Amino acid sequence: MVIGKGALLVTGAVLGTGILGAKIAHASEDHAHPPHYPWNHNGAAESFDAKSIRRGYQVYREVCSACHGMEYVAFRHLGEIAFTAKEVKRYADETEVWTEPDENNEIHKRPAKSFDYFPSPYRNKLEARAANGGALPPDLSGIVKARPGGEDYVFALLTGYDNPPAGVELREGLYYNPYFPGGAIGMAPPLADGSVDFVDGTPATLSQMAKDVSTFLAWTSRMEQDTRKQFGIKATVGTVIVAAAAWYWKRFKWSTVKNARIHYRD
Ligand code: HEC
Repeated sequence: MVIGKGALLVTGAVLGTGILGAKIAHASEDHAHPPHYPWNHNGAAESFDAKSIRRGYQVYREVCSACHGMEYVAFRHLGEIAFTAKEVKRYADETEVWTEPDENNEIHKRPAKSFDYFPSPYRNKLEARAANGGALPPDLSGIVKARPGGEDYVFALLTGYDNPPAGVELREGLYYNPYFPGGAIGMAPPLADGSVDFVDGTPATLSQMAKDVSTFLAWTSRMEQDTRKQFGIKATVGTVIVAAAAWYWKRFKWSTVKNARIHYRD
């Protein structure tokens, strides 16, 4: 077969533009970047908003925990931030966790203790995928650290569901969300106005619930943050005191030397 030079050139040009075009499209259209929101736990000396964490846990418990576990967060951790020992015990009592495998390698459910971690509703990843049309609901303990944009991303994702733009067809079981990489997510919109009935009476709008659960997830990702900041302040104050004492001690000890007049005898 003989291919003319012209044909080769044209093919090359078409291929080249195709690849370049695809790259540009990918960079600009893949997904939207979340805006920055003014979280009040991100200031240098700010701690987490305990009331928001209480509501956020309620949202997690009543909505998200139907699909997502948190393998690094235990009930007892709730007592370190915003819950009484009684509440921690009640939440644990009302939750079931998986047992260790028995002699037939089967796991069962038992009531949780306060040292137990928030269970996944599924026995394993296979079951989790099967229940979610092939998509795997990730463990949420460290999700704010694991995703670029952190809590901004989680908030934008939860509030960003929309109808697909004209011309975009989604496979069944996928939902359009411009903040999710690729734009099609396998999680149905988990929140809508009134999804929960907040114990503290706060109106449960979509954005309120999304804010509270994002704050809760930011806390679980950085449980040690408050302790770290407190330690930072203590360490700074401590260092200043020790440095001042050392400076004074040195002056005191050297004063005789510095004030001494030296006479040289012939
Ligand atoms: C009915 C099950 C279900 C519920 C309820 C649910 N999710 Fe999901 N979630 C999923 C699935 C499935 C995925 C994986 C989606 C994918 O990879 O396409 C997911 C993914 C996510 C992701 C990760 C997105 C990413 O960047 O990979 C976050 C964050 C998340 N869910 C948060 C939540 C929060 C917060 C709630 C509660 C308000 C919640 N989900 C409730 C099923 C659920």
